[in-house]
This record gives sequence, C-alpha cells and structure tokens, in this order.
Amino acid sequence: MKALVLAGGTGSRLRPLTHTSAKQLVPVANKPVLFYAIESLVAAGITDIGIVTGDTAAEIRAAVGDGSAFGARVSYLPQGRPLGLAHAVLIAREWLDDDDFVMYLGDNFIVGGIGELVDAFRALRPDAGILLTKVADPSAFGVAELDSSGRVVNLEEKPAEPRGDLALVGVYLFSPAVHEAVRAISPSARGELEITDAIQWLVDHGRSVRPTVISGYWKDTGNVTDMLEVNRSVLEGIEPAALGTVDDASELVGRVRVEPGARVVRSRIVGPAVIGRDSTVTDAYIGPSTSVERDCVITGSEVEFSIVLGGSRIEHAGRIEGSLIGRDVEVTGARRAPRAHRLVLGDHSRVRISG
Ligand code: TTP
Repeated sequence: MKALVLAGGTGSRLRPLTHTSAKQLVPVANKPVLFYAIESLVAAGITDIGIVTGDTAAEIRAAVGDGSAFGARVSYLPQGRPLGLAHAVLIAREWLDDDDFVMYLGDNFIVGGIGELVDAFRALRPDAGILLTKVADPSAFGVAELDSSGRVVNLEEKPAEPRGDLALVGVYLFSPAVHEAVRAISPSARGELEITDAIQWLVDHGRSVRPTVISGYWKDTGNVTDMLEVNRSVLEGIEPAALGTVDDASELVGRVRVEPGARVVRSRIVGPAVIGRDSTVTDAYIGPSTSVERDCVITGSEVEFSIVLGGSRIEHAGRIEGSLIGRDVEVTGARRAPRAHRLVLGDHSRVRISG
C-alpha cells in the first residue's frame, strides 16, 4: 500500500503566510503539520509516500527530503496547477501504479493515527474507504449522506444546504478503481476536479464505498482559528522540560518546554507552551497554548493562544492574543508619542487593533 500526501494547493485562507511559504509547513507545537501526517502513515506501516506539490515544491522538498528521517521513501509529484484533489490523483496515476493507497491531505490533523483504518481496509478491500465525522458547520466541508443501513448514498462538496452533518475527514483509502472515477468526472463550478464527485461516481457505478464515522479529534488546519486550535490541543500533550536557561526571576507554570539554547529572563510562562531553540523571552508573559519557534525575541510583551514563527521579534507590543505571526516579523510598541500604529503589512494581511 502507498500513500499520496497532498501538499500543493493555493492556501488562500492562510494568506499572507502562504504568499511566501507552504501552509503544510506551518508548525504545530514547533513541528510542521505535514510531519504529523507522514509520521502517522509510517506508524500505520506505509512507507512508500508520494507528495503532491505545487508552487511551494522547493520548500516542501527541503523540509522532507528523501523521507529517510521518517523511515519512509518519498517521491515528489509536481501538480502544475491546483486543479483539485481528484486532479492530484490523476497526475499521480503512473506513480501509484495499480496499488491501493491512502490519500492524506497534508494540512489535516488527526489524533490517534490511521493504523486501524488501514488494517480494516486491507481486510475488507472495498473500492474506497472514507472517514466521516460530525461537524457543526457542514457547509464548509465535503458532506456525505448515509442511508438507514449506513451505506453512502450522496456526497457533496461544500453544499449550501447540507444533507446531514457528516463531514469528510481529509484521509481517504482507495483501490485502483478510483482511477476510472477521476478520469470520468468533470470540473465542478469552482473549476476543480472534486474527490467527492469521484467517490460519488464510484457509488453510482455500484462500487463499494465504506464509510467509517470517527469521533476522535480531527481538524483541517487551512484557516487561522483551526491552526491555533490544533496547536492548543497538541501542546496539551508535550513533555515539559527546561533545556535552555531560565533565570531565578522567571516562573514556568504547567507544561512548558524551553528548547535548548532558549533563554527566559524575568518572565512568566504559563503552559502549555513551547519556547523554541535560541529564542529569548525577557520581561514577558507567555500564556497558555502558545508556541514560539526558534530564534525569536520577545521582550516586554504578553503573548497568549498564538503561534510565532522563527526569527520574529515582539517588543513592548502590549498583549497579543489568538495570533499567527509569520517568519522574521517585527511587532514593536511605540514607546513615545505619537502612539500611532505604523504598519508595513504584506498583501492579504489581517490586523485587529484594540484601543
Ligand atoms: P484545500 O485546503 O482544500 O485547498 P487549498 O490549499 O487550495 O486552500 P484554500 O482553500 O485555503 O485556498 O486543500 C487540501 C490539501 O490538499 C492541502 O494540503 C492542499 C492540497 N491540494 C493539492 O495538493 N492540490 C490541489 O489541487 C488542491 C485543491 C489541494
């Protein structure tokens, strides 16, 4: 069995970060979200992994390499344009050969692994296996409708009027039957070859599509709120450790991980939180559910429920909450009058100013 990991796409919901980097590499508890996907595939015994890439191919390749660091063998499959999840299967046809495969969306996050699902698929050999979970806002997802005996009857991508509340989780299991389906369908109104249409094609042609409803934790990290939420949940499981230096005037409360080379000076850090390698936190408060990546400087500020990426500097900035701050960003307070906001923001940046 192989795995097809989708790490192309547009990432419009995570702009401006995705103007310059891949959304699948945004770190969760200081580790790229894509790495969790690769690790869960390897844990399920799948080591032959094809990664579909788009504009950010170079960055994804640099981060994952040949896969040996994960105990996997990784091939790269460039997708000229992000024309849909079913299009990714279409371009991977040759690499997939006639093997069964798991298709894993590279920005999706599932707790608990996929080992059992893969085992069940191998044992039962349906034409496709889909994962479903109940969501509050189904119209933001692919939605599946099951009949009274639990069979899949209808699938729809981001329906305006959803038939039920079961959303498709970003992990699919396919037999080679899917290749005929992705060739048979046409682009949707938004111009993409939809995987939901391909699965509907299988259903309509009498092929077996096995649904599994999961109740565990799943999130698509495609938007900022979900990204912060996943970060919060992963941080809750980190191992506390003070591997850097923490001075006597500082206090670490709860699950706090201070990575090697990091320095905490006259600061209070309330976990779960992680301070990345060689970052310096001085006269600051870092609140729960916060990850600070490597080489950051945080001085005289408060940061809570946020992700701060590498090389960023936050100084005398007051209180920052619920924020996703990119690489090498500077956020500094105006210490003298006029206390005006001075902004140099990239395209599609979003700033909420209080007071
Ligand atoms: P999505 O998050 O559905 O799409 P997107 O990346 O275009 O994001 P947005 O809606 O914010 O513009 O994609 C799910 C995953 O699949 C993600 O990791 C990107 C990847 N993908 C591809 O590799 N190729 C594609 O053609 C598409 C649409 C997505």
